Order: sequence, then C-alpha cells, then structure tokens
Amino acid sequence: MINESILVESLSCKNASNSIDYHSLPRFRWYGYKEGFSPNLVVEAINEVGIEKDDYILDPFNGNGTVTLTASINNIKSIGIEVNPFVAFMSRAKLENFSSEEFSKDIQNVLSSALLGKKSKLSTYSTFSEESGKSKWLFNSDVLNSFEGGWQSLKKFSTAKKSIFQLSIIGAAMDNCNAVKDGKCLKYRSNWEQKNFSVQSFINSLEKRLQKNVSDLKDLFIPHQATIINADSRQIIKSIQNEFKLCITSPPYLNSFDYTDIYRPELFLGKFINSSYELKQLRFKTIRSHVEIRLHKPISSDFGEIYNTIFKQINNSEYIWSKQIPTMIQSYFEDMQNVLTDLLVKAKKEGELWLVVANSVYVGVEIPVDLILAEIGTRKGWKLKRIEVLRYINRRKTKYCGNINKVRESLIVFQKD
Ligand SMILES: C[S@@+](CC[C@H](N)C(=O)[O-])C[C@H]1O[C@@H](n2cnc3c(N)ncnc32)[C@H](O)[C@@H]1O
Repeated sequence: MINESILVESLSCKNASNSIDYHSLPRFRWYGYKEGFSPNLVVEAINEVGIEKDDYILDPFNGNGTVTLTASINNIKSIGIEVNPFVAFMSRAKLENFSSEEFSKDIQNVLSSALLGKKSKLSTYSTFSEESGKSKWLFNSDVLNSFEGGWQSLKKFSTAKKSIFQLSIIGAAMDNCNAVKDGKCLKYRSNWEQKNFSVQSFINSLEKRLQKNVSDLKDLFIPHQATIINADSRQIIKSIQNEFKLCITSPPYLNSFDYTDIYRPELFLGKFINSSYELKQLRFKTIRSHVEIRLHKPISSDFGEIYNTIFKQINNSEYIWSKQIPTMIQSYFEDMQNVLTDLLVKAKKEGELWLVVANSVYVGVEIPVDLILAEIGTRKGWKLKRIEVLRYINRRKTKYCGNINKVRESLIVFQKD
C-alpha cells in the first residue's frame, strides 16, 4: 500500500536535492543552474548500486549535467539526454579537455575582439536591446555588440576550445543582462536602468570566467567523456542500445515552470534557435509540466487511486488560474508513465532508477507527485525500494495555494526485479 507512512529519511549526504555545493566546484561552476541536484547524491547512488567496469549510468533529463559530469570525473560511462539545446551544450562543454596553456594564449585576442565589438543581429529583435524600441530590454546594445565581437572571433577554434569560450561568453552576457532568473520567470533587476551594463563590465565578467576555465582545465582532467544527446526523452529512450545499471534523474517538476522560457536569452544568444516559431516547437518537445502552449491532449487517465482522488478535487474547483491546469496534470503523469515504462525495458536485471521529484499545489490541494509516481511505477512493473524525503521547499504564498506553505521534495528508488 503506497501512502505517506512509507516515507523514510536514510540518505547519508546532506542537501542532496539542491545544487548549492556545486557553484564552487571546478567545471560545475562554469555555468550556474539552480534546478540541479547535488553531485553528492550521484556519488551516493553509485556507491549503493555498485557500478562495474562495463556498466553505464543514464540521465534522461540531464539538465546542467550533474550526473554526466560526476560520472565522467569518476571515469564511469554515462549518457545524458536533454531536450533544450543550450542546456545540452552547457553540459557537454563542461566535459571538454583542453590544454590550459593553449587556452590562456587566446584569451587576450578574444577580449580584444569583444572590446572592438560587432553589430549583433539580435539588437532589433523582440526585447533584446533598446534598439527594438520597447520600454524594457534585456541587454544594452553595447553589451550585445561586445558579445557578438567575442563570439565571432571563435570561428576558427577547435570544437573543445570553442565550446568552453562560447559558454563563458554567454555567461558573461547573462552577468550583464538587465533581467535575472527569478523562480519561474526572468525578472528585471531592480533599478536595472541605473546598472549601466557596458562593454567594460562585459569584458570584466568575461575575463573572470575565462580565468576560472583556465584554472579548472589545469586542475581537473576528465578521464571519460559522457555521451550527451540533445533530444526528447519520450522519443529516444527506446532507441538506446545497452541496458543501464543506474538511472538517476530529476524530471521537470509539476510546477508550471517552463525551462525554454527561462533560458530564452541563452537560446537566442548561442543561435540554438532563431525565431519564436522555433521556440514554440521546442516547447512541444518538453515534458508537459507547464501551460505556455496549448498542450496536446492526453489519452490515458489510469494512474491509480491517489491520482484519481486528487485529480477530481482539482478538476472540480472553480478557483484555478489557468483552464489548462487539469490537462497539464493529466499530461504530466501520462508523460512520466511512458518514460517509466521505457526505462524499465532499458534497465539491467537489478538495475535501479533514482528519481528526484517534488510535490505541487493547485487550488489549495497538494499533489503528492512522489506517491503517484511510485504507484505508476509499481503498476508498470518496477519494484519500489523506498521513498526518501529530501527536504521541504518553502512556497510563496498566493491566493491559489490555500494554507500550504511547504511542499515535499523526495527521492523515489525503484529496482528492476
Ligand atoms: C530538473 S531539470 C534536471 C536537472 C539535473 N538533474 C541537474 O542536476 O542539472 C529537468 C531537465 O529536463 C529537461 N527536459 C524537459 N523535457 C524534456 C524531455 N522531453 N526530454 C529530455 N529532457 C527534458 C529540461 O530542459 C531540464 O533541463
């Protein structure tokens, strides 16, 4: 019987589900990513499951690449799947090896090209700069042109060197962006007009980032390169050839957070997408955990008793901020059911699936995502080993969340019997 009485707390690593620790770690620090979990959790899973020489680890929602980078540092094979091309690029760049001396030699040239600048095609697009004529803009055009100057100077670099420089140039642009990531959206900094981000502030940020690259390239060689696949997991898991020993992952949470929206500046800066049409197409490839687009209607609704009870309460409520929410909830569990089914086929005998998820709240009703996914997984043939409580996340009080001010974040551990 799956209910709250089965929850345990037995992990030895602390802060397993938040990435605070990795902002100072070599290579992890090349690009900040708030939504990641801790490398310590990956190490704990590796130790518990026991990875042999020919085993590999899979992460079908690879994000920042905590799993692939940790596995690669420890000389373990791994595959990461990530739908967002900027995020996939970021996790790949963090794995590149390159001579730190050779890298250093190019820094001055790239900084000089950034200082000189080049006209950016983005300056008149959407809200990218003041030249678009809007009342608010993401980048001052000097910053955007400086970015473009640096970016274009990398054309002849080898892939490894180019990726590391590109990641730092995008990072420096975001350091000098008039908006910052704030929860689910990009929010303009307070007094953003007075910040006066300029060519010089961009160059300073870039230089700082490039120095970190040099020091990490020198100190931390990556002995094994993970495979990063930029694709939709719902389509691609079936075609992976070998069976995994460990899959450790954190799918998007059921919290209406749209990763394509929050990484929109990076997607355009890096030319991973070039139009709002391409952005919309990318949204259709993501797990249906947000309401930014008109979602494809789900077909299945057979996700067990806990789901049925909760869904009825939410679907019958009048106080909902978007009519798409019931569809999103049903779609989310349909996507996750399909992913859990595909993963079972690709697991070795006694292989394990470690799934980090969080509950969510709509119309004052808490959705116990951990219990529902545990129920779905067992119905599909996984053996449930345990559900760990990782922490309780504080919620902003809104008129839609009733009295619930905290939600549970959990780790579900399944095994293939
Ligand atoms: C919670 S984050 C994963 C964070 C990761 N554990 C880390 O530590 O960096 C979820 C990721 O799933 C990705 N994603 C969403 N839909 C996807 C899909 N259909 N296929 C593959 N990745 C997807 C998002 O872009 C996001 O980067």
